Amino acid sequence: MNRREFMNLMGIGVLATSLPVALAACQSETAAPDAAPEDDAVAIDSTPREDGFAAMATVGELDEAGFVSDKNFQGTQLVVVRDPADDAALIAVNSLCTHQGCSVAWEEGAFACPCHGSSFNPDGTVASGPAPTALETYEAKIEDDLVLVKV
Ligand code: FES
Repeated sequence: MNRREFMNLMGIGVLATSLPVALAACQSETAAPDAAPEDDAVAIDSTPREDGFAAMATVGELDEAGFVSDKNFQGTQLVVVRDPADDAALIAVNSLCTHQGCSVAWEEGAFACPCHGSSFNPDGTVASGPAPTALETYEAKIEDDLVLVKV
């Protein structure tokens, strides 16, 4: 075997061993168009039902973050949390602070306003001002692994 024959055999060998790897890499980049998305996001139909409740999120989303919020759920800005006094119950409030309209956030068992320091109890009542009145509350419940709210 001369040098040229040896180099040709080596080239074929390298090509033969790397081809399966190259094909596998190409296949992973071109997943089937009907493949499921890689994240666990669930498409939720938030159309209000006959009883007025509409799905806002999954229970998994609620429990993962400790709350779920939506700045425009059925035209209302909402935060939903589990009731600290009854883990099976939910609390839904309009998250617009009654002082000057900043968005409150759920922090350590209360709704806190970052703008001027008001805080609200889990039931939406004022714990400390300057907010003059309670947050508006809404009916909320868990059904079929969904967080439902009636606004
Ligand atoms: S807007 Fe919330 S305390 Fe002022």
